[in-house]
Amino acid sequence: MVNLNYGGREKILSVEDLVVKFNLRGKVLTAVRGISMELYSGESMVIVGESGSGKSVFTKTFMGMLDLNGWIDSGRIIYKGSDLAKYKTEREWLKIRGREIAMVFQDPMTSLNPLKTVGRQISETVELHRAARGTSARKISLDILSDVGISNPEKRYDQYPHELSGGMRQRVVIAIALVCNPQVLICDEPTTALDVTIQAQILQLLHSLQDKYSLTIIYITHDLGVVANVADRIAVMYAGDIVECGLCDEIFYNPQHPYTWALLSSLPQLGVRGEPLFAIKGTPPNLHVEIKGDAFAPRNPYAMEIDFIKRPPYFEVSPTHKARTWLLDPRAPRVTPPPSIVRSQERWKEMRRNA
Ligand SMILES: Nc1ncnc2c1ncn2[C@@H]1O[C@H](COP(=O)(O)OP(=O)(O)OP(=O)(O)O)[C@@H](O)[C@H]1O
Ligand SMILES: [Mg+2]
Repeated sequence: MVNLNYGGREKILSVEDLVVKFNLRGKVLTAVRGISMELYSGESMVIVGESGSGKSVFTKTFMGMLDLNGWIDSGRIIYKGSDLAKYKTEREWLKIRGREIAMVFQDPMTSLNPLKTVGRQISETVELHRAARGTSARKISLDILSDVGISNPEKRYDQYPHELSGGMRQRVVIAIALVCNPQVLICDEPTTALDVTIQAQILQLLHSLQDKYSLTIIYITHDLGVVANVADRIAVMYAGDIVECGLCDEIFYNPQHPYTWALLSSLPQLGVRGEPLFAIKGTPPNLHVEIKGDAFAPRNPYAMEIDFIKRPPYFEVSPTHKARTWLLDPRAPRVTPPPSIVRSQERWKEMRRNA
């Protein structure tokens, strides 16, 4: 394991060899295949990967929110000295869920109650978690509404979710999450339902609230381009595994896993105008059958024989950067990343300069 302690940050959560399975119509599916990951206090960690790679399932285990047909098969999730993977009862989870680790969901409409005013919904959470009542609960709610950038909070307080724009509803969802003062905030594609300008505003908002609320944030996305500017670190997920993890610049300037190359080459933001976008050929593996070797091998033009036989370990690229690919084995032939990667690095430099 890479020993990562960048910027003197403290480790807040540590996942060790986590395996999550589901029983689907009598067949077992492995959605998370032995992930190890550490989260450091105050950082912004982006988890990126294509649809079905296990981003949501993985992070739901931090809050005891797996669907009923799923279970943690092995591994540990250490948070403040406790192993969350051992938690069984709702009573145990209530100490963590919302108060320590909170989640902002993809679609604000599904997390808000359409029949209650937004003010009522925030105040109820305040009453539950802050032992404040009546006017003092209202005051806390109004303050938090203005913290999340809602102008005229007095008026908004008495409105129903459908009376607000998508962006504003997303801000309300964030407000509800923040009321409980969580240490870790998981944002599961908080922006996909929104247009690009609003997306950027919400990300900027979360970024600006991070210090004030001492938040460690996990952003989950399949569009790296959208979140790149707020990421300290990036974990790349493929078929239930983190195949590469490093500081934001390490992933953009020095990516090692062919899946990361493919992912970066397919980013519209890093594409070259007039050239067709790179598309990853083939389909992700079937999670019902045991995966031998590197799960990406059948789609990987650089795959070697061993990729089909033996799962690669993590190779350390730097103290903050690791990747699970046999290409990093000293015995592997030297392979240069595709030209599209080199071009995307130039584009990334440009984006960084303009940010
Ligand atoms: N309740 C369930 N029962 C069976 N399989 C499930 C269940 N929930 C998730 N899965 C499977 O686990 C895998 C990972 O799903 P997950 O929702 O974590 O993907 P994701 O990376 O979040 O995708 P997306 O970007 O589309 O949200 C998928 O193959 C999915 O079909
Ligand atoms: Mg998901």
